[in-house]
Amino acid sequence: MIERTIFIENAEQLITLKGLSGKPATFEKMSSLSVIESGAILIENGIIVDVGTTEDLRHKYSSKIEEAECIDASGKIVLPGFVDPHTHIVYKGSRENEFNMRLNGATYMEIMNAGGGIHSTTSKTREATEEELFTESMNRLNKFLLHGVTTIEAKSGYGMDWDTEYKQLKVAKRLNEEHPIDVVSTFMGAHAVPKEYKEKPDVYVELVINEMLPKVAAEKLAEFNDVFCERGVFTPEQTRLILEAGKKYGLIAKIHADEIEPYEGAELAAEVGAISADHLLKASENGIKAMAEKGVVGVLLPGTAFFLMTEAANGRKMIDLGLPVAISTDCNPGSSPTVSTHLIMNLACLHMGLTPAEVITAATINAAHAINRANEVGSLEVGKKADILIANVPNYMQLQYHFGMNHTDTVIKAGEIVVQGGVRC
Ligand code: NIG
Ligand code: FE
Repeated sequence: MIERTIFIENAEQLITLKGLSGKPATFEKMSSLSVIESGAILIENGIIVDVGTTEDLRHKYSSKIEEAECIDASGKIVLPGFVDPHTHIVYKGSRENEFNMRLNGATYMEIMNAGGGIHSTTSKTREATEEELFTESMNRLNKFLLHGVTTIEAKSGYGMDWDTEYKQLKVAKRLNEEHPIDVVSTFMGAHAVPKEYKEKPDVYVELVINEMLPKVAAEKLAEFNDVFCERGVFTPEQTRLILEAGKKYGLIAKIHADEIEPYEGAELAAEVGAISADHLLKASENGIKAMAEKGVVGVLLPGTAFFLMTEAANGRKMIDLGLPVAISTDCNPGSSPTVSTHLIMNLACLHMGLTPAEVITAATINAAHAINRANEVGSLEVGKKADILIANVPNYMQLQYHFGMNHTDTVIKAGEIVVQGGVRC
């Protein structure tokens, strides 16, 4: 946060998403963008001071504006900086060889069960020094910023031994301290059963519960606790044990649920009171309804279905059933090696049936709800953090209409201009 007054004015559309901070948006509220035409926003010391029409704010704050740094957003839209609520950005290496194998007919789970996939990135991440991991993850974070992302969640889970999980969590903490993007940490020791425990998965579950979770909590290394609940990975029973144990340490539950096969992950998310359940490609209608009833956010990952060449989650139906939906890149080296929030939004429209307005809600305020940050970010309202994206399009529909493009012009993070004209300041 810096001491500076910024006045953004003349926005063709100022997309505020007002009034959605209390609980995640559902049904028609997902289209309630509260757009102000010829919009303006006044920022002081990193915080939003007022939001309105350019005419009103110029009148109300004429002397302050004389001293302020003014940004003319004519021809552009202004919206909250994007929140990415599900990433695995702290990892080493890449897996283009597996991409090639999949294009030659192998499946994601076959590759993983043969010792590749998550295990392959785990080996490389175990070998990497903390510095190497930091540098590689920092590069990814820089690219996210250029796409207008101002808050990101980052999971551990490429260690599956304490030393490496610790190393990943420390890197996430350093990224949060040293990079403008806010990095929110999730412990995911239960990302897979490590090779050493292949024949005794319950012993690994005990290790996560009795040794790793207490250490994560003692050093406050994470806010969330996530499990890959999938046939051949962790069962719903094991997932329940790990998430309930985490809750005792104050860690909020998340689940990678029903991604490859129906496995009652959505039902479990509702039962344990998870803040979100993510993926949900194969979630049952009852599971979605149970989540909706409990206000569990469904985090949909259109890039993952696209890259794994599978049918996307039915986002349209989920919204129509009352589920609050968020979207995310799922940035990771195996199933979604991308940082393009813009492409993810395009895919949410084109492959999941969300409308352009719903997609914006899913990438901002509902994404903030999925990581417990809706009181701070995700909408442009008085008192919130000045995390703002100015996009180079005259209306929000063009964000999705011109697909596969990065429309970022300016990014303001906590009142500081960090990207201008699409390049890092
Ligand atoms: O969210 N599904 C499990 N975890 C990641 C993929 C991790 C990997 O393949 O490296 C996901 O898609
Ligand atoms: Fe994931």
